[in-house]
Amino acid sequence: MNIRDIRQEYTLGGMDDSHLNENPFTLFDSWFKEAVNSGINEPSAMALSTVGTDGYPQSRIVLLKGYSEEGFSFFTNYESQKGQALAVNPKASLLFFWPELQRQIRITGDVTKTSKEESDAYFQSRPRGSRLGAWTSAQSQVIPSRDLLEERYTDFDRKYSAGDIPKPPYWGGYRLKPLTFEFWQGRESRLHDRIYFRQEDSSWKAARLAP
Ligand SMILES: Cc1cc2nc3c(=O)[nH]c(=O)nc-3n(C[C@H](O)[C@H](O)[C@H](O)COP(=O)(O)O)c2cc1C
Repeated sequence: MNIRDIRQEYTLGGMDDSHLNENPFTLFDSWFKEAVNSGINEPSAMALSTVGTDGYPQSRIVLLKGYSEEGFSFFTNYESQKGQALAVNPKASLLFFWPELQRQIRITGDVTKTSKEESDAYFQSRPRGSRLGAWTSAQSQVIPSRDLLEERYTDFDRKYSAGDIPKPPYWGGYRLKPLTFEFWQGRESRLHDRIYFRQEDSSWKAARLAP
């Protein structure tokens, strides 16, 4: 195997200039639905990149849990690394890569916490194991062993054996309100299509970028 020989030609689609007049949320919506309907694995998985006080970007996958013109929401532990980074620098980027469709979407914007009511409602919709997991895991902290994690899980399982499992106070959602979008469709000979949108004076300005 030679790593240099790993490459693909992209031939599945293209983006004509009519997309320059489209609302980027509408375009996102149609691409997202195509990703879901094409049956690809984890279509809602997106790389969330943040920059904390050390100035280095950090990326990790989180799951998109909702989108509208208000923004793109995901849920996590507010005390995690990403939570700490967003507390000092609430600017982030999201990246979707759907290789089966030869598509990538980049979004940058400003991040705010979702309301407690919204976080509570989403928390309560999660499977019981995930709700116990949120209580069990001090996400991103060093832990002495896997055994300790499993003991904590068993303790919370017992504690909440009957009745509701409340949302931990340190757990909830964020919403990224986009300032820019970039839609990328792979094309032949690396002459890909890239349509970029930027919010200016409360309207969207679009442009085609060189691949
Ligand atoms: C497919 C996939 C989905 C994930 N979804 C989430 C998620 O929705 N929320 C979350 O906090 N972590 C999620 N994770 C785990 C994160 O990638 C990451 O390990 C964790 O949030 C800790 O990140 P941090 O230390 O940078 O805060 C997911 C990981 C994968 C691979």
